[in-house]
Parts: sequence; structure tokens; C-alpha cells
Amino acid sequence: MILGVNIDHVATLRQARMGVEPDPVMATTLAMLGGADGITLHLREDRRHVNDRDLEMLRNFVTVELNLEMAATDEMVRIASKRLPDMVTLVPEKRKELTTEGGLDVRMNMKAVKKAVKVLHDKGIRVSLFINPEAADIEASRESGADMVEIHTGCYANEKGAKQQKELGRVVRAVDKSVELGLLANAGHGLNYTNVSAIAEIAGIRGLYIGHSIIARAVLVGLERAVREMKELIDRGTR
Ligand code: PXP
Repeated sequence: MILGVNIDHVATLRQARMGVEPDPVMATTLAMLGGADGITLHLREDRRHVNDRDLEMLRNFVTVELNLEMAATDEMVRIASKRLPDMVTLVPEKRKELTTEGGLDVRMNMKAVKKAVKVLHDKGIRVSLFINPEAADIEASRESGADMVEIHTGCYANEKGAKQQKELGRVVRAVDKSVELGLLANAGHGLNYTNVSAIAEIAGIRGLYIGHSIIARAVLVGLERAVREMKELIDRGTR
């Protein structure tokens, strides 16, 4: 199971002073040394953290899978087509949200998603859709021509006890359904050092995409160690 590390928060810290440090590119070196199999960055319409230069630099620098999270807009598709990340994850985007809130409503946005998938495929870029663990969204993802889905684990992460087990069941069923329909299944959002193991034990998951908990831990123990510790937890779950 691969680990994709989201480095948006490094850019968020840089933007707190509108300066040059910490540099997401430098952070990426340490994440790769710690065992990251992928690096994710979210280029938002308002460029509130990651900017166009970061994407350009990271494309030249990252030797593992580069995953660009973005909205399915013409502007973003044009940028992705120019910068050629290894994969794109289409997410819904709201200006005021603190982080991506829900999964993409694929059915509602089918026209834009299909169009984005086609253009990105023509450029050789694989496409993933960030969706809620709902059968209808998985079916719509299949119909859109996307290669993969990323199942939203936010509800699982926010619950405790029996309710969390119920949410875990929804994620498991969503992974099974995705695989059954021929989609690669990833998962992410809200995963941390205490809740990741149950997700890492789900058979059929290709990769986990994790940001906040790793960067938060990195502030205390360093990024290389924070990534290595997360990777070890995931590997333990997979065994
Ligand atoms: N996957 C997607 C699609 C996201 O938008 C985010 C947040 O940027 C993540 C995964 C990572 O979530 P977290 O920061 O809670 O680990």
C-alpha cells in the first residue's frame, strides 16, 4: 500500500509570512527520505498555500508519484496539461473551506469531470476522483472514465467507538465496490497515527493520502521521521 504525503501545510506555513520558508520542495526531500511513495499538492483557485511555482519546481524535483489535487475547471486542466503530474485527483473546492469538506458529487458534475478526464488522459495523466463512500458515486466515477477513486475517510476519522466501526464498514464496502468495477481504490482525509491501522488493513486499497497529521507530527519530531513512522504503521497493516 503506498503512502502519498500531502505537503500543502508546509506552503501554508510559508504563506503565514508571505516569504520563502519553509520551502515545500525542501520538505519533499525529507518526505521522500522518510519513505513517501508519492507527494500530493493541492493547487487551489485562490492559491492560498501551494502556488504555480511550487508545482513547476516539484514537477522537476519529485522522483516519486506526483499527485496534483485540483478542481475540474478549465484553468486547472490547462495547468495540469502543461505541468504533467503523474496523476490528478479531482476534488470539490469551496473558497471558504478550511480543507476539502466532502467528496465530489460526480453525477452532478459529470460533464466537467468527463471533459477533464478526457483531456488529462490525452496527456497521459491518470485521474482519481475524491468521493464519499457511496455506491452511486463509485458507479458515476466508473462512468466518467476515471482510473481511480480516493474514498473520503473523514467521517470515519471524526467518529469514535461503534459509530466509527460503522463508518469503517462503509469504507470497506466502497473499496470492494470500486475494485469490483475495475477502479483502483485509494483512501484519505483525516487519517492519523491512531486511526490509520484499521484502514491500512483493508484489502484492496492501493494507497493512502495523508497530510495534516504527518506535518503536525513533523513539527515535533521532524518530517523524515514523521513519514517513516506513518509508513511503518501502513506496512504493518498491510502485512
Ligand atoms: N485527500 C484529499 C483529496 C484531500 O483534499 C486531503 C486534504 O488536503 C487529503 C487527502 C489529506 O487529508 P488530511 O490533511 O486530513 O490528511
